Amino acid sequence: MNRLSSPLAELDRIVQRALVTGDQAGLEVLGYGEISLVVALDTPEGRFACKRLPLFDDQTSFDRYAEVFENYVTTLRDAGVEVIESELIQVPDEQPVLAYCVQPILHAASLGVSVARGPDAKMFVKAVVEATANTIGQTVGLDAQISNWALVDGNLVYLDVTTPLLRDELGAEQLDLELFVASLPWLLRAPVRRYLLDDILRTYYSKRRALLDLVGNLLKERLDDVVPHAIAAANVHVDPAITIDEVRSYYKRDALMWGLLQRLRLIDRGWQRHIRRRTYPFLLPPKIER
Ligand SMILES: Nc1ncnc2c1ncn2[C@@H]1O[C@H](COP(=O)(O)OP(=O)(O)O)[C@@H](O)[C@H]1O
Ligand SMILES: [Mg+2]
Repeated sequence: MNRLSSPLAELDRIVQRALVTGDQAGLEVLGYGEISLVVALDTPEGRFACKRLPLFDDQTSFDRYAEVFENYVTTLRDAGVEVIESELIQVPDEQPVLAYCVQPILHAASLGVSVARGPDAKMFVKAVVEATANTIGQTVGLDAQISNWALVDGNLVYLDVTTPLLRDELGAEQLDLELFVASLPWLLRAPVRRYLLDDILRTYYSKRRALLDLVGNLLKERLDDVVPHAIAAANVHVDPAITIDEVRSYYKRDALMWGLLQRLRLIDRGWQRHIRRRTYPFLLPPKIER
């Protein structure tokens, strides 16, 4: 058992209660991400950010995930990306298998979205662009969005490793994507699998698309000031060059898609809770402005 197993089990009881009641009292939610739930854990040996992973059918499925996860962290580090210390910890005695990715907690001021509003914004955004361009390749993907990075002691650090984006030489995804498709409203799973998944994933394995996505996301975060700077930094690495018009239309389409998904999830939650009388396994963020 891990030293954090029992504090984590306790934390998860609070998470489960919040899932059942919809009441987040007693939980310090750090981030909703698009798919995962990130909560703070206080222990005598420090504070941690705990990312609840999707449920695993069995131990084998978790072990396989853990292997791809470790590979991903190592691959990013080998490529020169500093990844925050990240450990997978299983909640004991849970069926199906339940686990969290546990990281040291960072101050809000060191998270990418804050840094990109501060005096180091230009330097920071450029560093994110460089790290992204230098890392993405045929077998290595990265979600370059600003919320996935932080500035710790002057160093750029990457946080979002719970969706390991690794492919083999033939282009086969190493991660079992079904784990994440399962987080979608039931009605959406088949169409997403068929029409959207390839497209979403392609963003992370293409330098140009990942950088376009990063810049579009800066618009979403209302970081318009750094946008020209980010575009200039990105255009050193991509051809054809990214233009502001392209960013705007990309952002519109993207906001539409995620906004729609968010609404469908609310409907799905209502359906699961009130009609199926089941616990909806995710906490949904308050309304996101797009
Ligand atoms: N180690 C951490 N310390 C503090 N906050 C964090 C940490 N890791 C993530 N967060 C917050 O949670 C958000 C979502 O985390 P992330 O790992 O990007 O998950 P997702 O895959 O859902 O995007 C981040 O954008 C950040 O605001
Ligand atoms: Mg993220």
